[in-house]
Amino acid sequence: MGHSAMYKFFIETYGCQMNAYDSNIIAALMTMAGFERTYESSDADILIFYTCNVREKAAKKVFSNIGLLRSEKTKVIAVGGCVPQAEKNMIFKCKHIDIAFGPSAYRKLPAYVSKILNDEEDRILDVELTQSSKFDCCNAERTVSRSEFVTIQEGCDNYCSYCVVPYTRGKEYSRPAADIISEVKMLLAKGAQEITLLGQNVNSYNGDAPYISIGKPRGSWNFERLLQEVAESDGLKRLRYTTSHPKDVTVGLMKKHAQIDILAPFAHIPAQSGSDRILKLMNRRYVAQEYIDKLNMFRDICPAIQFSSDFIVGFPTETADDFEDTLKLVREVGYLSSYSFKYSPRSDTPAATMSGQIHDTIKAKRLDILQRELMRSQTLHNESIVGKTMETLFDKPGKKSMQYVGKNVYMQSVIVESDIDLTGKFGMVLIEKAFKNSVFGRLV
Ligand code: 5AD
Ligand code: SF4
Repeated sequence: MGHSAMYKFFIETYGCQMNAYDSNIIAALMTMAGFERTYESSDADILIFYTCNVREKAAKKVFSNIGLLRSEKTKVIAVGGCVPQAEKNMIFKCKHIDIAFGPSAYRKLPAYVSKILNDEEDRILDVELTQSSKFDCCNAERTVSRSEFVTIQEGCDNYCSYCVVPYTRGKEYSRPAADIISEVKMLLAKGAQEITLLGQNVNSYNGDAPYISIGKPRGSWNFERLLQEVAESDGLKRLRYTTSHPKDVTVGLMKKHAQIDILAPFAHIPAQSGSDRILKLMNRRYVAQEYIDKLNMFRDICPAIQFSSDFIVGFPTETADDFEDTLKLVREVGYLSSYSFKYSPRSDTPAATMSGQIHDTIKAKRLDILQRELMRSQTLHNESIVGKTMETLFDKPGKKSMQYVGKNVYMQSVIVESDIDLTGKFGMVLIEKAFKNSVFGRLV
């Protein structure tokens, strides 16, 4: 790959934080192979799109963006992640794509790019799902920021009837604990202070324990054990994780939140719907009351805890009454923030072929109503912290000059004015004003 030093690559990432993590590793591998990263697509010889297939909107955006970002300089277009994994050969219906690679194949990307550059191959497709070897290169040296992700688990065996993840990310796989701990240590040594443990379903983590002593079985660690061990790492100031399935949130986990100070008192626990009938059709394996009871117990054990959730509106057969039940659940829980989506049929999933698909205008109307309700709750939470002093990790400059934006423990966006660059720093902020999507304060 001697010639590759002159070639520049650009990465565009879509979708969840696991994709952001994968993209960081891809950038590290490309750099190690001698390619140079650029943040200007027009300056890149190689365009890499790392994609999401969870909803149709995200999947479609890739194809339009390939058209937008392609330039005279472009020599290679590689599309990776969940779209090629789900669409296999179909991906090549876009004639500009040279390489299509699934979420387990990125280790081989630098070699594939060289093959295309050298005209050794016309097109390359690699969508084999081999999760364990995928993580072999995660401890690769890379540029480290103050806040970093570490994937601990990937794939999902829950088969919610609307979700494509079990097909694109494969079976649940937990990385061995020793690998996770060593990656965390590497990141902390290079300056990270906040770590977010990632997985489709982190609560069902069950990875090989680090080797302990000769003659004893190795055994495995569950999520609570892993959290505890990671929390004890030197230099770690804040620990987060995402995402959780409600059925796997245990009392043990709630207790960890009460015991570990650096563990942010914030849990993303997607409810998806408040209607028991719809939850059953979604194959979620809980009823609304069980979900609410669990969150109430969480609050009893750890009073500081706040919640966020995901919701889907317009799932097949959803009636006005079912939707009302979702609104009821939202009002009862009082989420700090949430994401909500129109149901989007995905190929291979059982819900896509269910009868009773809901018309888009109804989905749009329900989404609008739900988002207003969620926004009302979010604004109330933002207002409730006015007058409090909260630790904030600043991650970027704000829209106006001399402004910096960061996140408090609850992931609320905190804006302050400062004449020194706060990027990458922790600061204590007295919250003075609340808006819908952010709060404003001053450093104390
Ligand atoms: N349609 C709409 N939303 C979906 N999600 C997953 N699959 C679909 C789908 N087919 C949402 C769920 C999930 C989040 C990541 O995306 O709410 O929690
Ligand atoms: Fe998809 Fe359900 Fe697994 Fe989440 S738990 S990734 S929604 S199948």
